[in-house]
Amino acid sequence: MVTSLNHHGLITRRLEGKVAIITGGASGIGASTARLFQQHGAKVVIADIQDELAHALCQDLGPDVTYARCDVSNEDDVRNTVDHVVATHGTLDIMFNNAGITGSVNTSIREMEKENMEKVLSINVVGAFLGAKHAARVMVPARKGSILFTSSVASLICVTPTHAYTASKHAVVGLTKSLGVELGQFGIRVNCISPYGVATPMTKKGSSMEEEFEELIARTANLKGVVVKAEDIAQAALFLASEESKYISGLNLVIDGGFSTVNPSLAILLDQGKA
Ligand SMILES: NC(=O)c1ccc[n+]([C@@H]2O[C@H](COP(=O)([O-])OP(=O)(O)OC[C@H]3O[C@@H](n4cnc5c(N)ncnc54)[C@H](O)[C@@H]3O)[C@@H](O)[C@H]2O)c1
Repeated sequence: MVTSLNHHGLITRRLEGKVAIITGGASGIGASTARLFQQHGAKVVIADIQDELAHALCQDLGPDVTYARCDVSNEDDVRNTVDHVVATHGTLDIMFNNAGITGSVNTSIREMEKENMEKVLSINVVGAFLGAKHAARVMVPARKGSILFTSSVASLICVTPTHAYTASKHAVVGLTKSLGVELGQFGIRVNCISPYGVATPMTKKGSSMEEEFEELIARTANLKGVVVKAEDIAQAALFLASEESKYISGLNLVIDGGFSTVNPSLAILLDQGKA
């Protein structure tokens, strides 16, 4: 079990008694966060569209983690999920809008279908908006809550042409700030986390790809000696969901080993004597 020591040296569970919804919680970063939140005492509802994977995870994590089928781009699904959580657990403390898709990668704007842009925005942005909207419906009267989004390092820099994804992740940061302005008066905090590359089903196609992907990310991050795992992103989500971040709102917490702070292009050219 993952625990923390408080200043008295006692073991603490940082989300004791809290109720959380995690969209995209059946897989990858969301699944890791569900595990960590549960270990810290939260009741977790996974909102996803992968039934089998979600049921298997719930079985593994025990009765405090349950599944509600929910397509985040469908407002009825999101409304029903929030209502179901409040009816079951009496409250909603943490809404982690994490579900996302990449859409087409390395596709020129000239070939990109409008449908691709619309699909990515409908899940990554409209889905995040709907999650926040229905969470706020419950959190505002309660005068408390933490709304969290998963953005990406693509909200800061671009590596390859992923037009829809990059636009969507910038939008999530905008939504974070805008919602924070409105909801702060009710004691509700709104933040997002921006990972760089984490080996999850989104980024790896098979188990042999996992190590290759992790190696690539480790080599290109500025910080050396760390191979990032989904659990490391979950730790950031735990911080922003818990009372330890009680005075933090409107933040885009970048978890990228310094990747987005360094542009090595000039140094590489200088090294090659070509500048
Ligand atoms: N893995 C990375 O390198 C990385 C980097 C930066 C940001 N992110 C972001 O992290 C988040 C989680 O991604 P991941 O890497 O864990 O990928 P993942 O594919 O493992 O998980 C994404 C989950 O979202 C769910 N989902 C997709 N569409 C949905 C919908 N319409 N309704 C409900 N659920 C839906 C999927 O079923 C899946 O379980 C995404 O928002 C992604 O953009 C990932």
